[in-house]
Order: sequence, then structure tokens, then C-alpha cells
Amino acid sequence: MDIVVVGAGSLGSLVGGLLAREHDVTLVGREPHVRTVTENGLSVVGTEQFRVRPTAQTTIPTSTDLALVTVKAYDTAGVAAALADCTLDACLSLQNGMGNEAQLAAELDCPVLAGTCSYGARLREPGTVAFTGRGDVVLGDRNGGRSAVADDIGTAFRAAGIETTVAADMPTRLWEKLAVNAGINAVTALARVENGALADSPADALAADAARETAAVAREQGIDLSGERAVSLVEAVVHDTAANHSSMYQDISAGQQTEIDAINGYVVDTATEPVPVNETLTGLVRTWERHRER
Ligand code: PAF
Repeated sequence: MDIVVVGAGSLGSLVGGLLAREHDVTLVGREPHVRTVTENGLSVVGTEQFRVRPTAQTTIPTSTDLALVTVKAYDTAGVAAALADCTLDACLSLQNGMGNEAQLAAELDCPVLAGTCSYGARLREPGTVAFTGRGDVVLGDRNGGRSAVADDIGTAFRAAGIETTVAADMPTRLWEKLAVNAGINAVTALARVENGALADSPADALAADAARETAAVAREQGIDLSGERAVSLVEAVVHDTAANHSSMYQDISAGQQTEIDAINGYVVDTATEPVPVNETLTGLVRTWERHRER
């Protein structure tokens, strides 16, 4: 399969690197990563070590079988506009936050699938991505149900050794993932702690409350997600990724914009009842972002 990975950050480089062992992959990213990958290949280090030679460039090619979008949520609108000029058979979003698939579908004339990925990755330096832990990819029709396109992409991912489930309940999976991110990301970023610190009080209580509120908003949207399940998902991810820094922690440490609008901010914007913990977390991170811009 010909696959274009749009967003050669940590996750895009790792998944693109894994896919490149089996498929024709083009990584679309920024310099100096692109130049280094072109000259020396992409090195994957850490729990598994290998080197691959995907094509790497800064612009989106004119056609591909699959566009795999891994950019930050705040870049989705720009990517959707750029992909509109590309002939595509399918597009798959593997991004944090809610609303990415809808933005892509509004611009693209092909099936847009939703996905979640729990692989651990960290871009160490240009041309090198650290593989910090295996997880899985869950993908499927963004509105739920089965599709042949999703099955084909699942087969292509599995052929590359990526543990992949094709799911018929992506709307529920996306809300579950949102509850996990709403619980973990802002709290770890603001407290400057590893995910594992949320196993201790009082940070765990804050994370659990944010996840419970997210589940309540999901139920308002007709999604079957209990507060108890949302909290147990947060606890499982905290346990499995204890040594990791969340993506929002990494964004704030690097002085970069965060995905707060697509995570806790999305919960706040979608809620019809008060969600005070998500409002507070969103307000604090947005205050930091405004301060960063000055
Ligand atoms: O955004 C992240 O960091 C990850 O989605 C997660 C699951 C919270 C683990 O750090």
C-alpha cells in the first residue's frame, strides 16, 4: 500500500517507520527531520531497534492510497485544506482530541476513518525516534459500523507488525480516549509530573473528576460511557504509561501550543451541564498559552 503520513512528529515517525517495513511510506514533516531522514534514513531506537528508508518531504504528494494524519489537533484544518488537492482512496486520523475527523471529512472526497493509538514514541533528535512501548491501534468508520476500507487498512497495518483492531464502535472509543486525555494531559502538564504520579492523591482525584465529567458529556451525546469506566481507563493508562510524560507535558515543556481546545476545551464546549474541573483545567492551560505568546 502507498501511505502518506502527514505529521512526522513522535507518533507519526514511529508508526510511519513501522509501516515502512512493509509498505511504500512518505513521511511529510518539518526540517531538519526531513533532510536527516532523506540522507540517513529513519532510526527507531528503544524497545525495538531498526532503520528504514521512507521518502521524507515537507509537502503533501499529489496522490496516495492512504493519508494517515498524525498532526496536532490545532493543525488539522490546515492539513485538511492541503489534502483536498491530493487524490486519496482513504484518510485515517490517529490524533489526540475530538473533532479532527469531522474537519477532514468536510474537505475530503474519500472515506475518513477514525483511530486511536497507544504506542509510546518520542522524537529524540532529527532522524531518530524512540520506541517507548508497544500498544495497539484501533480504527474504524468514524460514525461507527463496518467498512471494507477499514478492514483493508487493518490488514495493511497488521502486515507491518502493528497490533490493530478494526472496531465498529469508534464513536465510543473516541470518547473513551477523550476521557483518558482529559484526565491525564492537563493535570500532568500543569503539575509537571510523569503520568505515574497520577496514581497518588490528590492529582488522581482531579484526573478522575475530569474523566467522570467527560463521560457525563459523552452520555449527553448518546454514548454509553459510565463515569466508573472512564476512571478505570484513566487508571489503566496511568499504570501502563507510568514513566511517560504526556503529550501536553511535552508541549508545555517545549514552550509550544497545546491540544487543550480539542481535549478539555472540547468537553467544556460540548457540555450542556457544568463541567467545573474541565473548565478550570482549560482556563489554566489557556492562561499559560496566552502568557507564552507574549
Ligand atoms: O497524549 C498522551 O500523552 C497520550 O495520549 C496518553 C494516553 C495520555 C499517554 O501519555
